[in-house]
Amino acid sequence: MAQLICHHLSVGYDSKAVLTDLNFEVNEQDYLCIVGENGAGKSTLMKTILGLQKPVEGRIMVGDGLAQNEIGYLPQQKASQKDFPASVREIVLSGCQGRCGLRPFYNTQEKELAEDAMERMQITDLARRCYRELSGGQQQRVLLARALCATQKMLLVDEPVSGLDPKATAQMYELLEELNEIDGITIIMISHDIASAMKYASHILRVGKHTFFGTRDEYLEEYRRRKAYRRMIQKREAQKEEGEWQ
Ligand SMILES: Nc1ncnc2c1ncn2[C@@H]1O[C@H](COP(=O)(O)OP(=O)(O)OP(=O)(O)O)[C@@H](O)[C@H]1O
Ligand SMILES: [Mg+2]
Repeated sequence: MAQLICHHLSVGYDSKAVLTDLNFEVNEQDYLCIVGENGAGKSTLMKTILGLQKPVEGRIMVGDGLAQNEIGYLPQQKASQKDFPASVREIVLSGCQGRCGLRPFYNTQEKELAEDAMERMQITDLARRCYRELSGGQQQRVLLARALCATQKMLLVDEPVSGLDPKATAQMYELLEELNEIDGITIIMISHDIASAMKYASHILRVGKHTFFGTRDEYLEEYRRRKAYRRMIQKREAQKEEGEWQ
């Protein structure tokens, strides 16, 4: 079975759907990029996969040894969250909360997990610093380390390069690629950066007006077909207009 299957899934708020009838599946070590316009419902879909929102309709099935609480999540950043008054170590450690259950402290294993995650994200030297004093790129690496504490299997990242400069953007993509290719972690990423989606993703899910799910090559093929179709329509319109002028 796949790690994640969405079957006739509709997502939204208060029983009102923002996205309807989504059908796709994600297998181990896939790199799925979700694209679509602002407000299309991408973040809502991610929250529904995580169990933070109830599906309006349809089903989400998690399998292949993955449990819903083993999915790491890097949420879309809001300006207010950038000001969070905690140390880097505290924020990374908070990624272990799902493992703690009702226990009110972190055990040695969880503390080691947080140290490992900081090392992998190259932020060990920032451990004592206050999160809100960091640059945008450093903050995103802290949040990725936090997400890693929750998982060795699947990461959901919502616009991880939003607001980053080209160097920090490239670093973030490299880290995600490494986690996918070397550590075998499945990645589901929301992005408006189509060029990078084409470079890194194995699969594309486009939501909104023209829903699409398939491999990157199938997406490119579909894109070319749509472009050729648009050109043909434009040509016909021009010919029609020419005819009207004659
Ligand atoms: N908590 C909420 N309650 C009700 N409606 C919401 C809530 N959060 C988002 N929405 C609405 O749901 C729709 C989809 O929002 P969502 O944040 O999922 O879009 P998005 O595709 O992630 O957009 P963006 O690319 O701008 O991040 C929007 O119309 C939004 O206003
Ligand atoms: Mg969003």
